[in-house]
Amino acid sequence: MRILAIETSCDETAISIIETTTSGDNIRVLSDMVMTQIDIHKEYGGVFPALAKREHAKNLVPLFAESLHSAGLYTEKEQELDTTAIKQILEREPELFTALDALARKIEKPDIDMIAVTYGPGLAPALWVGVNFARALSELWNIPLMPINHMEGHIVSVLAQPDYQKKDAALLSIPEQEFPLLALLISGGHTQLVLVRDWTDYKIIGETIDDAVGEAFDKVARLLGMEYPGGPKISKAAQDGVEDESISLPRPMLHSKDLNFSFSGLKTSARYLIDDLKREDKLDTQTINSIAREFQQAATDVLLKKTKSAIEQYGAQGLIIAGGVSANKHIRGTFTEVLTRDYGIPVYTPPLSLCGDNSFMIAIAAYMHTQRQKKTTPQNEVVAHGNASLAGTEGN
Ligand code: KG4
Ligand code: ZN
Repeated sequence: MRILAIETSCDETAISIIETTTSGDNIRVLSDMVMTQIDIHKEYGGVFPALAKREHAKNLVPLFAESLHSAGLYTEKEQELDTTAIKQILEREPELFTALDALARKIEKPDIDMIAVTYGPGLAPALWVGVNFARALSELWNIPLMPINHMEGHIVSVLAQPDYQKKDAALLSIPEQEFPLLALLISGGHTQLVLVRDWTDYKIIGETIDDAVGEAFDKVARLLGMEYPGGPKISKAAQDGVEDESISLPRPMLHSKDLNFSFSGLKTSARYLIDDLKREDKLDTQTINSIAREFQQAATDVLLKKTKSAIEQYGAQGLIIAGGVSANKHIRGTFTEVLTRDYGIPVYTPPLSLCGDNSFMIAIAAYMHTQRQKKTTPQNEVVAHGNASLAGTEGN
C-alpha cells in the first residue's frame, strides 16, 4: 500500500510518499520533501497567514511533481481530462488549479492507494490549501482520503528510525505493553500533556492557558535581538550563559495542582528584565547569553515539574517529547536524565529532522490508523479546522 501525505499547517510545505513493506508490519520512505518559508516570514517576526497560504499554493504542485519523480511514480502521458470538479474544489486557489490541471494532463494516475492530509490544528488559510489540494487529487484520481490531526503527527514522529529515509523498516517498534505513554507536545502553537492509551487513542490532560512554550522562546528571542524563529538561537546562546543572581526569572504555575502551564508571565518578566538592562546599558553579549540560559532553565523547570506529576498520576510507562521545541538539547537532555533516574522509564524523541513540521509524521499517523482499520473520509466531507483538538480523535 502506498500513502501520499501532505502537510501545510504553518510555514512548511511538505509531501511524503511511503509504502508498506512486503512483511506488512512496517513502512519505507519513497520520498520525503519539505520546503520551508522561514526566510519569507522572517521580516514579519512570525508567520504571516496570507503569505503562508500564497506560498503553499505556489509550491504544492512543483513539490508534488518532484515527489512523484523521486518515488519513481511519475509517468508521462498526454491526455484529455475533464477537470471541472477539481476547478470547483480549488475555487479559492486558482493558481493551484492551473498548475494541477497542467500536470494532470501530462501524467498517468500515480500508483497511490491513499492520501493523508493535515486538517488541523494550524493556520486556517494555510491548512485549507493543503486540504483542498488533497481533495482535488482524491477527486481527480479517485484515491481515498484520510484527514490527520497535526498534533497526532508530532506524537507518532517518535516512531521514526534515526535513519528512516534509508531503511526498509522506517519505524521503530515500541512494545504494546509500554502503554499508557505520556506525550509532552511543545511547539510554536501548542504546549500539551497528552495521555497516549494506544497509538491513535489520545486524551489531553494538561495544556497552556496562554502562550505556547515555542511562542515564548520566539518572543523572548526577539526582545534579545534574535531573528525568527528564535528558539534555536536562544538554545545556542544559552550554552554560553552563566548562572547570575541578578538574572532571575519566575517559574509560573510551578506549584499549581493541575497539569496546566502558563508562559506569558515568564515572557513578561523577561521583557521587564531586558528593558531594565537596556536602560542601564548593560545588555551585552554575556548578559544576553545568561538571560537565554535562565529563560531556558525556567521553561524546562515548569515543563519537567508538570510532566513528572502527570507520569505519577497516570502511571505512564514512557514519555514522548515532540514538536518543534523538542529539538532543544537542554530539554531533551534534562528530561532523559531525570526520568531515567527517578522513574526508570524511557524518553522517546523524534530524529532532529522530524521535530519541526513535516509530512512524514502525517504519513506515519495515517499508517497507524490503517493498521487499526480506520475508514477514509469522502473528499467533500474533509474540512480544515484551525483549532482542531486531539480530543476529536478516537477514544475520547
Ligand atoms: O512544531 P513546529 O515546527 O511548528 C509548530 O507547529 O508550531 O515548532 C516551531 C517552534 C518555534 O517556536 C521554534 O522557535 C521552536 O519550535 N524551536 C525551538 C528549537 N527549535 C525550534 N525552541 C527551543 N529550542 C530549539 N532548539
Ligand atoms: Zn507542529
